[in-house]
Amino acid sequence: MNAKITVDKQNIISKIDKRIYGSFIEHLGRAVYGGIYEPSHKTADEMGFRTDVMDMVKSLNVPVVRYPGGNFVSGYNWEDGTGDKSKRPKRMELAWQSVETNEVGIDEFQEWAKRADSEIMMAVNLGTRGPDEARNLVEYCNGETDTYYAQMRRKNGFEKPFGIKLWCLGNEMDGPWQICSKTPYEYGRIACETAKLMKWTDPSIELVACGSAHINMPTFMEWERTVLRECYEHIDYISLHNYYGNPDNDTAAYLASSIEMDKFIKQVAAICDEIKLEKNSDKTINLSFDEWNIWFHSNEQDKQIPKWQIAPPLLEDIYNLEDAVVLGSLLITLLNNCDRVKIACLAQLVNVIAPIMTETGGRAWAQTIYYPFMYTSRHGRGTVIKTTCDCGTYDAGKMRDIPYIDSTAVISDDESEITVFAVNRSLDSECELDFNVDGYAPCQRVALEGDDIKAVNTADAPENVIPVVKDTADKITLAPHSWNMIILKKQ
Ligand code: AHR
Repeated sequence: MNAKITVDKQNIISKIDKRIYGSFIEHLGRAVYGGIYEPSHKTADEMGFRTDVMDMVKSLNVPVVRYPGGNFVSGYNWEDGTGDKSKRPKRMELAWQSVETNEVGIDEFQEWAKRADSEIMMAVNLGTRGPDEARNLVEYCNGETDTYYAQMRRKNGFEKPFGIKLWCLGNEMDGPWQICSKTPYEYGRIACETAKLMKWTDPSIELVACGSAHINMPTFMEWERTVLRECYEHIDYISLHNYYGNPDNDTAAYLASSIEMDKFIKQVAAICDEIKLEKNSDKTINLSFDEWNIWFHSNEQDKQIPKWQIAPPLLEDIYNLEDAVVLGSLLITLLNNCDRVKIACLAQLVNVIAPIMTETGGRAWAQTIYYPFMYTSRHGRGTVIKTTCDCGTYDAGKMRDIPYIDSTAVISDDESEITVFAVNRSLDSECELDFNVDGYAPCQRVALEGDDIKAVNTADAPENVIPVVKDTADKITLAPHSWNMIILKKQ
């Protein structure tokens, strides 16, 4: 098979907002306890953070981390995670039916984020709580006044505000599984009033309203329209969440998951613009795809996990090569839509549907999905240029005319490099790739490929699936079911 990628550097999609490479840490399973935090671990720093995990997080170059949930946030009292650790309450955590010790809260997490060179995207509880607790939390985190919550932070040892600039107005409030879920109108109203109070407390913050929990929600679109009508002028972004999977083992269809993601993004962007028009507003609402990943491997095993444990091993998907190829193409889609998607969070970061796995008390290793994320996050910085790719197509599942090659191109700010990310979706054919890019030539190339599409990494075999450096002197051939990065240098 042959394909030709044409890149015209005058044809720009948009500058990439670096927050498109965000991730997510929820108080869920072993993400926090046994993941980022384990005081008894041999690599723990003086605050109890695992430095082996921290090093792996830093290699991913994650500019923003959503916290503390997820479903967890809808029953959370943020005050529980502040001040003297010996006085913090243990709680029944209803979202994941676990026990929350509150050993880690915003006091600790803001320090972890600093050490990880990341900003926080903080979610407020709009399930069991509301506008009052949300504005108090903004004051606790960002307040500079001589008032109760800013003083409470100072008394807890933090003179300087945490300076958290990005906030989520609740989480998946349309989902019946959510603690105190809401109708679109109920949510739109509370989101609007909460947004006003939060921005009055700190006008420099940006706010994300909840969109639908996934593209197949029965109220998808009606939810977005109603919510936007209620709070348009008070928010900055609307969220999208979606997880992909291959439960029926139809790999040809699974490799085309990014087509559904692309449609979802375009639909939500169109609704934002429809409400903009309806309101005759000058403001554009952009998108925060703040939960995306592959999630299906752990569904059955999670049903066996007993309730009311501290840090139970929930949502511990083990990812294989095909998952990594799909994840690489989802990233390509986020980049190709970076004119509207300004924030995206790979959900999640450690142990829970995550690129980084740990043994509590033991080793840490990178899952297959770690690598496309790491390379895209490191090299996909700059501006996305429109590419066209001449290639064959195939049919799978309900989809027709799926292009074999999925691709995007990013030009660096100094224009010295164009980095092409490309996935070959064919299960059995390699693809000889030709470039039509004036004044640039391939100089560096990395691929994630292999014969065994179900191969995984484990603590004992952490390098079973790792990227290979390829030669650029020869023809560029993309292996079947592979993810690829090709850097072209200005000649
Ligand atoms: O990321 C896991 C869960 O998925 C989150 O808690 C929730 O928001 C979503 O349904």
